[in-house]
Amino acid sequence: MQNQKPIIVRLEDYRVADYLIDKTDLSFYLREQETWVQAKLHIRRNPEAGEGLPELALNGEQLDLLEVKLNGQLLPPAHYQVDEQFLRVQPQQEGFVLETKVRIYPHKNTALEGLYQSAAGSMYCTQCEAEGFRKITYYLDRPDVMSRFSVRITADKARYPLLLSNGNLIESGNGENNSEHFALWHDPFPKPCYLFALVAANLSCAEDQFITQSGRKVTLRIYAEPSYIEQVGHAMTSLKKAMRWDEEVYGREYDLDLFMIVAVDDFNMGAMENKGLNIFNTSCLLAHPQTATDAAFQRVEAVVAHEYFHNWSGNRVTCRDWFQLSLKEGFTVFRDAAFSADMNSPTVKRIDDVRLLRTQQFAEDAGPLAHPVRPSSYMEISNFYTLTVYEKGAEVVRMLHSLLGAETFRQGSDLYFARHDGQAVTCDDFVQAMQDASGQDLTQFKRWYSQAGTPQLAVRGEYLAEEKRYLLHFTQSCPPTAELADKQPFVIPVKLALLEQQGDELPLHLTGEREAQGTCRVIPITKAVQSVCFENISSEPVPSLLRGFSAPVKLDFAYSREQLCFLMQHDADGFNRVEAAQQLSLQVLQDLITQRQNGSPWQLDPLLIKALQRVLTDNRLEAAMVAEMLSLPSEAWLVERAEIANIEAIHHAREYARRHLADALHPLLRARYQQLRETSRNTPFAASAEHFARRALQNTALGYLMQTDDDQVLAACLEQFAQSDNLTERLAALVALVNSTHIQEREQALASFATQYQAYPLVMDGWLAVQASSPLYGTLEKVRELMRHAAFNLNNPNRARALIGSFCNQNLLQFHQADGSGYRFLADCVLQLDRLNPQTAARLLTPLTRFRKYDEKHQALMQSELARLQQAHLSKDVFELVSKSLG
Ligand code: TRP
Ligand code: ZN
Repeated sequence: MQNQKPIIVRLEDYRVADYLIDKTDLSFYLREQETWVQAKLHIRRNPEAGEGLPELALNGEQLDLLEVKLNGQLLPPAHYQVDEQFLRVQPQQEGFVLETKVRIYPHKNTALEGLYQSAAGSMYCTQCEAEGFRKITYYLDRPDVMSRFSVRITADKARYPLLLSNGNLIESGNGENNSEHFALWHDPFPKPCYLFALVAANLSCAEDQFITQSGRKVTLRIYAEPSYIEQVGHAMTSLKKAMRWDEEVYGREYDLDLFMIVAVDDFNMGAMENKGLNIFNTSCLLAHPQTATDAAFQRVEAVVAHEYFHNWSGNRVTCRDWFQLSLKEGFTVFRDAAFSADMNSPTVKRIDDVRLLRTQQFAEDAGPLAHPVRPSSYMEISNFYTLTVYEKGAEVVRMLHSLLGAETFRQGSDLYFARHDGQAVTCDDFVQAMQDASGQDLTQFKRWYSQAGTPQLAVRGEYLAEEKRYLLHFTQSCPPTAELADKQPFVIPVKLALLEQQGDELPLHLTGEREAQGTCRVIPITKAVQSVCFENISSEPVPSLLRGFSAPVKLDFAYSREQLCFLMQHDADGFNRVEAAQQLSLQVLQDLITQRQNGSPWQLDPLLIKALQRVLTDNRLEAAMVAEMLSLPSEAWLVERAEIANIEAIHHAREYARRHLADALHPLLRARYQQLRETSRNTPFAASAEHFARRALQNTALGYLMQTDDDQVLAACLEQFAQSDNLTERLAALVALVNSTHIQEREQALASFATQYQAYPLVMDGWLAVQASSPLYGTLEKVRELMRHAAFNLNNPNRARALIGSFCNQNLLQFHQADGSGYRFLADCVLQLDRLNPQTAARLLTPLTRFRKYDEKHQALMQSELARLQQAHLSKDVFELVSKSLG
């Protein structure tokens, strides 16, 4: 497992496979302490790979090879070679049948990759993406080798009554041995092995059906532990909505008669799109008002849709190699985001996505692990399931969508699916389809795929009163990254409008055009320096720039605070309206941070109070907008915005602002809170945008109010904690209590919560996270103590993320303690987890790689922990991140 000098895989070394596998027949015998896997591979020389018969090298790791047969003849050991990574055979013909029999040990598989056991051995499941299939059997484990799979599973009838694989059930019955049974599955669609899945378990099932647009009936089944089955209704509803949406918006219909989802407790990521048999982390599938927050409801809807959408963007058309990962992930994230926007509030969805991008992806782009959307090399591909590949990749597709327009984009996607159905292709192929459908030259646009780093876009306005012209001067640049120092200009679509003094949008008439064309346009900025001139502007306008965050760049326009207040009131673009509030808060917070660092007295700009008062008294403003505008920029965003972040100053400045605003807005917040809580009390729970917004605003108000010294507020918080009928309200009250000075109430609430939810591990994750995120506690000690609590288990990635991940990502004040104790703690956790689960250990390590943002003292402490890790025996996963971070 451990590997100190891993091989670097490079995009430029890509070659087509020497051999293809037309047909794959697998037989699994799942037995107590071991599993036997027999593979019968119908192999053929790849006609595109050249002359002769080269050696066949099949990937295989951690397999006990029992026998090899070539064309039915047992091969003597002298006729093949096996090492840690390959089985090598010398073929004698163009076409042949290779059979292997191996033994594997799923009960020892804590890495959760390949075939493993979940839920304390009560079920078997698989995770093959990206390169897990080689831990199941010898194979050409690469996505451009696509094969038709038949899978026969034999297991104990009583313990594993349910035997599932991809495609259609062909046959089932008793095994040779009476206590066993078998099932035979056939998947008619050729697929790469990363989409293979197997489940053997004892689960309950929720069944429904879907009639496709062409009138075919599809059976839908969601499987989960009997105790969870009451919580899959929302996932089923979401699935049906996603199936309909993909038909309506992309013309994509489901292609098998059966679609299955299985929920598992132990899973490294959110979910996996295996053909016809998606496997889900319970955290992305289960949702019930009493045991899931509104955020969880929205996550379930989004992830169910995401995995379903992969059936076309990923499965029917797949990736040629893993450098092309964003081909399926960027596109599918774009698709699921548009779906979520259609199902809920598009503005809130966009704000959430941009927040993630700006705090996390920008940080990745500015750190030692920066890489392009299409990376050009890797040691361990699991490390490249990143925010850059997923979220920035989605932004790149989104930019294509806004440059081409919805209709032309749809023609491009139709062409892409038609042209490449059944193929394994590249990001270039995707862009080519868009180019061919639109007639636009996208050569320069493709730089988004190959250049890492977040572009800066500086914009300056210039008003020429006499000529009645308004100019916008754009300057773009992109900081150097390890791969590339000198960046070529990007194509940056800037969606904009110009607001006159009353707040109305002006007609946009670019110099050289015959007449004005609309009041909101997408203008592509393609040069390093570029100016745009608008005609017939009779007074200086306020520009609304980068509407809806139309490009993943850092925009810099020197807005005055008055202009931001103006945009907060008048911008017709919901995203930019909230953005103006966020920019105003940022400026005010930055004042406070400077004051803290200089030891000068606090002075919060009263303009912010006035602006937020207006927000709270504007009856036309939707609750969702009010909640967003009231929320101060997170500490993580303030870190992102700083050259060198002083966490201590950031934290205390933000806390001061919260307290001060809470006092200043107290009567308005209290009235609003009471009214919203009253409505919540009298309205049955619904997972709808309107309800999400109400609870968001109610809880934001409660969070502020709990900063004030008001016994009635404490009483209200305790009432909400005890009486509310849903986890969103209850957990928000718990957060407020845990971060308050009411020690007794806090301890009581934590204890009663733990008693109430001990049987619900996902809810207990929230309980762990709330405590790990508290800046007040001697929190690190508390986190160490919680690692010994019955609710914690390092083997389960959800638990590790909830406790350790929350401490390091959500609790910046404690994680960055000046003595380095937070860093040491994380490094120790990573070391311990790396022995069990390298993928999850590597993900957990991320905060330690963000050292560039901190002062020399902190940097040195962070790097010394990375250096300590480097001395240890590491997995390839952690080794790659550590060694790249240290440079
Ligand atoms: N393809 C999955 C998705 O985005 C991602 C995934 C699930 C994954 N499990 C994984 C990636 C394990 C790497 C390793 O929907
Ligand atoms: Zn995906």
